[in-house]
Amino acid sequence: MKRESWSSRLGFILAVSGSAIGLANIWRFPYLVGEYGGAGFVIIYLISLALIGFPVLIAEIVLGRKARKGPSGAFQELGKSTTWGLIGKTTVFTGFLVSSFYSAIAGWILGYLVESIKGNVTNFTTTTEAAAYFEHLLASPLFTVGAHTVFVGLSTLILFFGVRHGIERGNKILMPILMALLLVLLGYGLTLPNSGEALKFLWKPNLSALSSGAILAALGQSFFTLSLGQGTMVTYGSYVKKEENLIFSCLPIVIMDTLVSIISATIVFAIVFSVGLSPDSGPGLIFHTLPVVFSRIPFGVVLAPLFFLLTTLAALTSEISAMEPSIAYLIDEWGLTRRKAAWIIGALVFLVGIPSALSTNLLKEYQIFGSSFLDAMVFLASNILIPLGGLAATILAGWVFGSRPTINELKEGAKELFRKQPWISAYFSFCFKYLAPILILIVLIHELL
Ligand code: PHE
Repeated sequence: MKRESWSSRLGFILAVSGSAIGLANIWRFPYLVGEYGGAGFVIIYLISLALIGFPVLIAEIVLGRKARKGPSGAFQELGKSTTWGLIGKTTVFTGFLVSSFYSAIAGWILGYLVESIKGNVTNFTTTTEAAAYFEHLLASPLFTVGAHTVFVGLSTLILFFGVRHGIERGNKILMPILMALLLVLLGYGLTLPNSGEALKFLWKPNLSALSSGAILAALGQSFFTLSLGQGTMVTYGSYVKKEENLIFSCLPIVIMDTLVSIISATIVFAIVFSVGLSPDSGPGLIFHTLPVVFSRIPFGVVLAPLFFLLTTLAALTSEISAMEPSIAYLIDEWGLTRRKAAWIIGALVFLVGIPSALSTNLLKEYQIFGSSFLDAMVFLASNILIPLGGLAATILAGWVFGSRPTINELKEGAKELFRKQPWISAYFSFCFKYLAPILILIVLIHELL
C-alpha cells in the first residue's frame, strides 16, 4: 500500500503545529508556571526547549521519514532488533494513554464552549464565582463523561478520513484565527491594573523558587507540548517527503508553540494579579480566570464561545495526533484498513478515558499516590513515559542507527543550508549523542531516586 503523505510544506507545518499547539499551551503551561513560582520555571522551560525539545523533535521526525514507518516499524528497522521494535511499540502505547486522558480534559473545554453559548460563563464578577462554577460542572459525571464522549467521537471521525483530508485541512484555517484571538485577549490583559506584576512574575527570575520538581516539570512540559516521546512525531515524520527541509519547517513550529504558551500565561497572570488571586491554583487556573475576562471585556459574550471553540479545535488537532500512531500501527502491522483502525482505537480511547473523566466526581475518592486518577495519569505520562520515549529516540538516532546516517537523512532537502552552515551538523550530532540523552537521564534519575 502506498504510504499517505502531506500535500505540501504548509500542510506539514500546520499538521505538526496543530499537534503541538493545544491544551499544553493554553491550559497547562500557565498553571505550571504558577505552581512552580514564575520566571525561574519559564527560563528553565525555554532552555530545555532549545537544548532538548527542538533536537528531539528533529530526531523523531527524521527517524520516521527515514524508515517511512510509524514508531514500531521504524524503531525495529533502524535499531535492527525486536527490542527496539518493542520500545517503539511502547511509545505508541504512551500516545494512546495520553489521548485517553487528554480527551477527558479537552471535554471540559468543549463543555465550556456549550456553557458559553448558553451565556453561563460570562456573568462572573469574581474569580471565586468562576471557580465555584467550574467545580460545580466537574462534579457532574454526565458533564465530564458526556463531553469526553463527544470529543473522542469527533477525533475518531477526523481520523477516519485520513492524513490529507482529515488532519491537514482543519489546521489550515484554525491556527491563524486562534492566534489572532489570543492577541486580542493579550491586548486586554495588558491594560489591566496590575499587568506589570504579571510580567514581572513571568520574567523576573526568582531562583529561590526553583526546585528539582520544577526542572522535571519543565522538561516534561517541553516534551508534552511538542508531542514528543510518544510516537506522534515519528508517525508524522513518516508522511514527510524527502524534499522537505526539516529544520526550516520545524523551527517556526517551535517558535509559534512557545509564543502561544507565553501569551496564554501572560493573559492568565494579568488577570490573576489584577484580582489578587493566588497564582498556584492548579489545573483549574484558566477556568477560574478567563471567564472573568469574558464577563468584563466588551463583546465577551461573543468572544467567549469563539475562544472555547478555537481551543477545542486546537485540542482536537492534538488529540488526533496522539491517536494517529496507534492507528498507523494497526494499519502497518495488522493490515487493517484506516477506517477499521480508526473505529477500534476510537472505542478503546473512549473506554480507557472514562476513569479520567470520572476522577473529578464518582472516582474522586480513589487516589493513586495521593493524587486523583487523572493527575496520576498526567504525571505518569508527562514526567516519566514521555521523557523515556524521548530518550529512546535520541539514543536510537545518536548511537544505534548512528548520528552520521541520521544527519545524512536530515540533510535531505536541506543540502544548501548544511553546506552554508556546517556547524549545524556538529550541533545536532552533539545533541543527539550527548546533550539530549544525558540531560534527560540526569533529570529522570534525579526524580526517581
Ligand atoms: N502537544 C499537545 C498539546 O500541547 C498534546 C499532545 C501530546 C498531543 C502528545 C499529541 C501527543 O496540547
